[in-house]
Amino acid sequence: MDRPEAQTTDRKDHSMPEKPLIKTLRGEVLERPPFWFLRQAGRYLPEYRQLRQQQRDFLSFCYSPDMAIEATLQPLRRFAPDAAILFSDILVVVDALGRSVRFVEGEGPVVDPVRSSEDVASLRSSEGIHDRLGPVYQTVRGLRRELPETTALIGFAGAPWTVALYMVEGRGGTDGGTARAWGYVDVDGFGRLIHILTDATVAYLGQQIEHGAEVVQLFDSWAGVLSETQFRNWVVKPTTTIVRALNERYPDVPVIGYPRGAGAQYETYVAETRVNAVGLDSGVPLRWVASTLQAQCTVQGSLDNQALVAGGAAMDAEADQILDILGSGPLVFNLGHGILPHTPPEHVQQLADRVRAWRRTEGIA
Ligand code: CP3
Repeated sequence: MDRPEAQTTDRKDHSMPEKPLIKTLRGEVLERPPFWFLRQAGRYLPEYRQLRQQQRDFLSFCYSPDMAIEATLQPLRRFAPDAAILFSDILVVVDALGRSVRFVEGEGPVVDPVRSSEDVASLRSSEGIHDRLGPVYQTVRGLRRELPETTALIGFAGAPWTVALYMVEGRGGTDGGTARAWGYVDVDGFGRLIHILTDATVAYLGQQIEHGAEVVQLFDSWAGVLSETQFRNWVVKPTTTIVRALNERYPDVPVIGYPRGAGAQYETYVAETRVNAVGLDSGVPLRWVASTLQAQCTVQGSLDNQALVAGGAAMDAEADQILDILGSGPLVFNLGHGILPHTPPEHVQQLADRVRAWRRTEGIA
């Protein structure tokens, strides 16, 4: 390959001991599962709230490598998880494609809505996104220098359907009705948007890997609102394309897919997309996961983020159940959805300690 920089990074990797997260994503079962937490950086941490004040606008914060690096490292200092996840947002790609994105206090993201074929035609091509995203790549590169030896660096992007939902609706807090209707009325027009996002996602994640991401995760947070047909068209097909393109170019970099809320469609997702690991939401039955999904790939999840808000014995019991049922196979312990802003950091500490102390008992499934 004509990528001298990437080859240098690779050579360095091979001389280092393999990180627990990466071993597990390859299917190995370790003495205790590695862990990290969805949205482990962010507003539940007082040090994040303080750092965040240095930049009014959230996108500018994401595009400031020093601040994004610091925000990524904050939870590592407290909890020493097995992975760092790049601090950014899935909607930077929308901004890079040329649509305005704002984060409004108390309301969430507001996007200049994409509603017609003309709007889709006005988007930048996937080669055009890197100028805007340069600071994110700098953050990734900077993080690789800062991380402890056993901590893996996860890059991420929103999956095409979830990003399209925000682009079409123009804001969060919906069930994607306008986007789903467009997908029925004009399959080709909406499909064109999904196609552009698929190309952009491959280009974006490829650059994150070139700059040092060792694992990538695709967030399909709104996969659960789709019918079987639309799930196939807007989730399974584009994800399969992305996984194939990345695996071909970067065979050593595992891809985690997270189709939140997919229910029984998790099975199709795993079988068809060939993701290296699948992120579970808290509603997926654990014994079903053990007998179906985990037989095919590593699973990641799935503690209820409200159990983390509750803390105490209830949280311990929920965590133990996940560990006992899924810990004898390849498991990355995580939450089913991101840490909520009102979560006490002490509960996160309690959970990290509990997972770290757990040991697999040979022969017990
Ligand atoms: O620690 C980490 O996980 C890394 C950072 C990260 C953020 N967003 C930071 C963020 C990650 C991985 C995301 C992913 C993301 N962003 C998703 C997929 C995961 C999920 O939660 O379903 C989605 C759907 C978004 C879009 C988004 N960004 C919304 C809906 C919101 C508003 C709601 C909210 O939580 O505030 C954001 C803003 C956002 N992204 C914040 C953070 C820390 C809060 C903004 C702030 O700090 O001012």
